[in-house]
Amino acid sequence: MSATGTTRQKMPSDIAAMKGGAPVVCLTAYTTPMARMMDAHVDLVLVGDSVGMVLHGLPSTLGVTMEMMILHGRAVARGLQNACLVIDMPFGSYEESPAQAFRNAARLMSETGAGAVKLEGGQHMAETIAFLVQRGIPVMAHIGLTPQSVNVFGGYKVQGRGEDGARLMKDAMAVEKAGAFAVVLEKVPASLADRITAEVSIPTVGIGASAGCDGQVLVVDDMLGLFTAFKPKFVKRYGTLGEQGEAAIAAYAAEVRARAFPAPEHIFADEVKK
Ligand code: KIV
Ligand code: NA
Repeated sequence: MSATGTTRQKMPSDIAAMKGGAPVVCLTAYTTPMARMMDAHVDLVLVGDSVGMVLHGLPSTLGVTMEMMILHGRAVARGLQNACLVIDMPFGSYEESPAQAFRNAARLMSETGAGAVKLEGGQHMAETIAFLVQRGIPVMAHIGLTPQSVNVFGGYKVQGRGEDGARLMKDAMAVEKAGAFAVVLEKVPASLADRITAEVSIPTVGIGASAGCDGQVLVVDDMLGLFTAFKPKFVKRYGTLGEQGEAAIAAYAAEVRARAFPAPEHIFADEVKK
């Protein structure tokens, strides 16, 4: 039994129904063990295209491919029984046309078992979102700082400050009207995130937004302290796994060099004891 009293895996409609209620707890995952670690504790697991930067050492999310998303999506799906599984559409797989988006979204869902896709964009992606939803593909929208547009933005900058807030409000209303079941708000002023949350009927999931959002999402390697190349302001590290991992590796290396590992309990006798 999960906290919400269901035993089946959560669906996008269950997430949508959390609007205005208990906060929607979301994290990214890219592997089976990480998915298993979080499944009982979160409502939604996102196979984010952040996988490119976090696990593959890419400089941005632009180099992430459909094949990478499918491989990681399948791995995460094997580790989940409770949380709703959402998979990111990678850069170049959906922007060209609604038909292109449908073809690739259907592939992501059928080849991984994900219950929904996420894509970046507001007003200009509304037609595509409606096209997908009308054809059976639940869509989570993502507005504000959309990292796949980093080259247009000229960096990972806060979006929607001052007069620009009206644009983001329109984006939120457009994706809601198009039928998105939830919307990620990334790196926007807290007051704007609160206004959008009050305005739209679908859950807002914040990352660098506001505690007043209907839910929160973080990149799991960031919050575990595993990814340490840089730390955005909106990341809180709940663990120091990167440091712990390096210390463990250093201890192993020292013991191997000292011939202290393997110890008697790790090795095998020539004859089996009677
Ligand atoms: O790719 C990702 O991890 C994301 C979340 C941070 C929302 O899109
Ligand atoms: Na993403």
